[in-house]
Amino acid sequence: MIDIDKIRKDFPILKREVHGKPLVYFDNAATSQTPQIVIDTIVDYYQNYNANIHRGVHTLSQEATDKYEEARIKIQKHFNVKEAYEIIFTSGTTHGINMIASGFASILNEGDEIIVSALEHHSNIVPWQMLCEKTGAILRVIPMNLEGTLEMDFYHNMLSKKTKLVFCNHVSNALGTINPIKEIITTAHKVGAAVLVDGAQATPHIKPDVQDLDVDFYVASAHKLCGPTGVGMLYGKQEWLEKLPPYQGGGEMIASVTFEKTTYAGLPHKFEAGTPNICGGIAFGAALDYMNTVGFKNIASYEDELLQYATEKLLAIEGLKIYGTSKDKTAVISFNIEGIHPYDIGAILDKLGIAVRTGHHCAQPIMDYYKIPGTVRASFSFYNTKEEINAFVEGVEKAKLMLS
Ligand code: ALA
Repeated sequence: MIDIDKIRKDFPILKREVHGKPLVYFDNAATSQTPQIVIDTIVDYYQNYNANIHRGVHTLSQEATDKYEEARIKIQKHFNVKEAYEIIFTSGTTHGINMIASGFASILNEGDEIIVSALEHHSNIVPWQMLCEKTGAILRVIPMNLEGTLEMDFYHNMLSKKTKLVFCNHVSNALGTINPIKEIITTAHKVGAAVLVDGAQATPHIKPDVQDLDVDFYVASAHKLCGPTGVGMLYGKQEWLEKLPPYQGGGEMIASVTFEKTTYAGLPHKFEAGTPNICGGIAFGAALDYMNTVGFKNIASYEDELLQYATEKLLAIEGLKIYGTSKDKTAVISFNIEGIHPYDIGAILDKLGIAVRTGHHCAQPIMDYYKIPGTVRASFSFYNTKEEINAFVEGVEKAKLMLS
């Protein structure tokens, strides 16, 4: 059970006003808010043990290193990863995807195929297009349907010995659809293809078990999970991380360097060149602790309640259409009102203190499929309430009156 009054007290930002109205924050799919305990972790780092890691003999450096490596173990446990060194710290999901795309440049040959889904964010399309340009590989797309779900029969028919990598988000950022990733992974493995899953939108709601999924790579960002921006994780199976070349050269990722030859460090350091976001990594661990204390089952069932409540209320507004109606979806509602530009609705909601995202949500192919310029997207979190949804629905009705 969610104790909503207690939880809201954990998030100082929820007390603020915007344009003289209480903040209603429904842009959680873009970034989540930060609980006091994570803010305290960041302050504690800079006040008490700010130092570079893995390098110094001194106490501060050792303390920072210990906390950073503890955070890696928290991430390992959270995702049920076999070995801590299979977790690579990144600057976020996009960084993790680009690391794998860059690594596969040394593996792919002309005519090999990469499959992506039609429900992808641009960060899950562009790196693969760049990889195809570099290698002569071919990009194929699993089509979607009006519900906003994937046409899995097409996917099964697309798989062949030529398929080397399949890429899919666990949850669509624009529509909230939860994709059948287990089926995607199992069938890709039958033809020998590796699978990378983008968990940026899933991880705030679902606790993935990477061993059970048997996924080859899984990426996520801390800032969607009540952590700070600028830090994320890449999980890779040991055999894959050993096979792929390093992404960047630099300090920390070497075993030895001479002008004749450099040998690389073992995992995870091979992929962690340069000084990382130390404080961010430690705060990522604190954010996971916080979310696990709330409990992912509680989070999922409470958010589902919010989703059902808001969906019913919004559908009662004449001319309002929701995009993405899969029965498996997270608490995301993308919608438009006939004859009104989504941006105008978003601007009026902002004046009422309500934060939503408008536009194509970095998923232009989805908007092209529906033949729309974009949508208004409201995305809920476990610290939102039905009262906030009431204020939001009233705001949408008001915007409709003003703009029609
Ligand atoms: N990818 C983030 C979103 O969907 C930024 O809003």
